[in-house]
This record gives sequence, C-alpha cells and structure tokens, in this order.
Amino acid sequence: MTLLAIKDLSRHFSSGGRDVTALNEVSLTLSAGETLGLVGASGSGKSTLARILMRLIPADKGTIRFEDEDWLALSGAELRRRRAKMQMVFQDVLGAFNPRATVASVLDDPLRIHGIAPKAGRPKEIAALLDRVGLPAGYTTRSIREVSGGQRQRIAIARAIATRPSLIVLDEAVSALDVSIRGKILELLVELQEERGIAYLFVSHDLAVLRAVSHRIAVMDAGRLVESGTARQVIETPRSPAARALIAAVPRLVTGMPEK
Ligand SMILES: Nc1ncnc2c1ncn2[C@@H]1O[C@H](COP(=O)(O)OP(=O)(O)OP(=O)(O)O)[C@@H](O)[C@H]1O
Ligand SMILES: [Mg+2]
Repeated sequence: MTLLAIKDLSRHFSSGGRDVTALNEVSLTLSAGETLGLVGASGSGKSTLARILMRLIPADKGTIRFEDEDWLALSGAELRRRRAKMQMVFQDVLGAFNPRATVASVLDDPLRIHGIAPKAGRPKEIAALLDRVGLPAGYTTRSIREVSGGQRQRIAIARAIATRPSLIVLDEAVSALDVSIRGKILELLVELQEERGIAYLFVSHDLAVLRAVSHRIAVMDAGRLVESGTARQVIETPRSPAARALIAAVPRLVTGMPEK
C-alpha cells in the first residue's frame, strides 16, 4: 500500500542575492512499513524535502499525498490531529527540545497533545515507552541535558513512536553518534519497524548507514532526485554520477551487502 506519494516538489531560496533551487521537481513514493534511504551530498536538498514533508516550511509547488490525504492542504486543527501519524527525529535533538525539560515532560507532551492516554494513565505509558527504547524507568526525572547523545536519541525515538505514527522522518538521526552506539540505535529502529509496521524516510549522507536499514535508496543531487532503486541496485550497480561518487567515498561498501 502506498503510504506517501510526493510529486514534483520544488522549493527555492533567495538569500543574500543568491537564488538556490533546493528542490527541483522531486517525486518519490513510500509504502507502508518500508524504509526509503535518501542520500546525497551536502546541500543536495535532503533536509529541505524533510522540512516540507513535516510542514515546517512550505513548498513552491508540487503535491504530497499521505495516508490518502492531500497533506499540503491540511491546516489548523486537522493538521495538528493528523501530525500524530508523521513524526520526525532530528540529528540535533537537544536543539529540538527545551534543554531544561525532563525526560518525563518530553514524553508527556505528545501523549497529552494527541490524547493518546488520559492524565492518570500517562506515567505508565511513559514508562512503557522508555522500556521499549531500552532506557530505565528512573530516567523520567532527568533533564534532557543530563543524558548522553545516544540516550537522547532513544528519547527522541520514544517521543516519535508515542503517537503511533505510520511514518517517521529521520534526518541524520544517527550521524552524530559513535559507531557502536549508532549500530544499537539502528537495530532498535529496525525492531520497531518490524513490530509496528512504521515506514521510515531515512535521510543520511552516509551510505553505509543506509545500506544497513533501507529497502530502497533514492539519490539526490543539486535539488534533483537522480536515481532510485533497491538498496542493492543502487549500491552495486549505480547509474548516476552522483551515486557513483557517494559509493566511491565509502571503502568496502559493496562487499557484504545484506539481503533485504
Ligand atoms: N532557509 C534557507 N535559506 C537559504 N538557503 C537555504 C535554506 N535552507 C536550505 N537552503 C539551501 O538549499 C540547499 C539545500 O539545502 P539542504 O539543507 O536541504 O541540503 P541537505 O541535503 O540537507 O544538506 P546536508 O547534507 O548538509 O544536511 C542548500 O544550497 C542550502 O544552502
Ligand atoms: Mg540536511
């Protein structure tokens, strides 16, 4: 089932007398429960796509269908309600949270706002979320600033799954983590997908990360989507110069390609 269909999405920016076409007629689809890896050099437009999808910035033109609705036409209370179904995990989680917030309040917010659990039931729900992402229940009283980068990313994932989304957009969500911690977080994400059928739009400049989690990979270059295929196709037989350049930059990427 097609969960998400992006068609001819474009966006330009003008700043300091410079005009940048950040997105140039990008089209892609994502099925329920699928991971699409979105890769491209710095400045190729990946975050712009993610931000338009999350309705953080508008598009110049193009359409987005999500769960059979005209996603860009939603506004007000209806958009707030539907947002539960599309969540995001950023690289800079500290920047996204109030640094003085406690872990409990970070997880309480989505439960309250989206009416997932009544007030009396929320502590239990928060404990279950923490448990699911591998953190002890005692973490509820800690401030978000006190926990490690990997733990913070687990909390961001807990917050993202709290509203039972069908899609999570991850923008460089593991890029700042040490390799060993990164592997554990990727394992958690794959488990959650198998358990709950969540689709991921997994934005990363790192093809080794995308190889580990993606069913399909799409390649961006200067605002355009230049190639897409199964993870294996794109990594083993890349067609575009952009994909070839990204692959050449990662030694030993092609050997040991897992079956997906
Ligand atoms: N708010 C903005 N104002 C002006 N230009 C912007 C703005 N946001 C993005 N751009 C420009 O749009 C282009 C695409 O940027 P974007 O952040 O989407 O790239 P990216 O693929 O996410 O890069 P990175 O891998 O470095 O995160 C870049 O040229 C960037 O400078
Ligand atoms: Mg980016």
